[in-house]
Amino acid sequence: MEFAFFDAKSYDRPSFEKYGKESGITFKFYETKLNEDTAKLATGCDGVCVFVNDTVDAAVIDRLCDAGVKMVALRCAGYNNVDLKYAKGKLIVFHVPAYSPYAVAEHAMAMLLTSIRRIHKAYIRTRDFNFSLNGFTGFDLHGKTMGIVGMGKIGRVFAQICKGFGMKIIAYDKFPSGDYEFVELGELFKKADIISLHCPLTKETDHMIDETTIQKMKKGVVIINTSRGALIDAEALLEGIKSRQVGAACLDVYEEESELFFEDFSGHIIDDDILARLISMPNVIVTSHQAFLTEEALNNIAETTVNNILEVVKTGQSQNQLSVKD
Ligand code: NAI
Repeated sequence: MEFAFFDAKSYDRPSFEKYGKESGITFKFYETKLNEDTAKLATGCDGVCVFVNDTVDAAVIDRLCDAGVKMVALRCAGYNNVDLKYAKGKLIVFHVPAYSPYAVAEHAMAMLLTSIRRIHKAYIRTRDFNFSLNGFTGFDLHGKTMGIVGMGKIGRVFAQICKGFGMKIIAYDKFPSGDYEFVELGELFKKADIISLHCPLTKETDHMIDETTIQKMKKGVVIINTSRGALIDAEALLEGIKSRQVGAACLDVYEEESELFFEDFSGHIIDDDILARLISMPNVIVTSHQAFLTEEALNNIAETTVNNILEVVKTGQSQNQLSVKD
């Protein structure tokens, strides 16, 4: 079995090589992302293994089929980059629904604490032997209201962490379940001191945080997004920060991240003025879609992907298979 592995990074290889070797699957690692031009690299392969910023739209699906590919193994949970409708009957698509909700939830809390206690600024100051505390006044999380949008695997772990801090939790979910205080989205926006997004990106959730919803939030609200960039209208967020309506933003994902994130642009001039301006703000923290990146998660991703492939080979389908109804 051979799989063309797109958008390969050094940290992907050890776990995929290990689990691939154990099960007779060879992963051919390509640094390039999957798109219409690169799909031909999969010629002769049984499948492709892709990540969040690879493109699997109709045109790419046609090219993959021409190349003889039968499977698309997503090594991530989100699948908004795949045209499942078009893939139906052409390719078997499967994903890794959960690899470590702890990794993402803990990163969300790490960003929140960094932001509100100004750790990112203190780190730079003390390295220069500047021990002044001016401008570093934070606030207690204890007693604050956390609004969680999307109470799935990650949202629930995040809620548990927040409870440990003595926070009040309110939540919104399209399909509410479990013993949480669920409220309407508008009420969550109105009441939460901090809002953390943990729902998938769909047509419905696209730009769920925009100019209008930001105006409904508490002044000084902190917004955390470790889910998908396009849940937030980045331009509206920037305006919210400039007007002080938004007190801080912690962003692990960004609307236009696909051309930037995971790569080193330190020697380049960034064309994206909105991202550049957001990064320049003292109260905005940006990480590069890093929330998933723990050893535990990488191992689980590789193990589940390999198991998904073996299951398809054996039974013709996978329990983690995606179809349009998903
Ligand atoms: P999950 O499927 O367990 O939970 C998603 C929750 O969102 C479900 O409870 C679902 O009912 C709810 N939901 C669906 N549509 C909604 C809507 N319109 N409004 C509000 N809630 C809605 O998914 P999980 O594992 O908790 O992941 C959540 C998201 O986190 C993923 O969709 C993915 O985009 C993102 N993610 C980000 C990572 C990172 O490294 N930054 C890594 C892994 C996931």
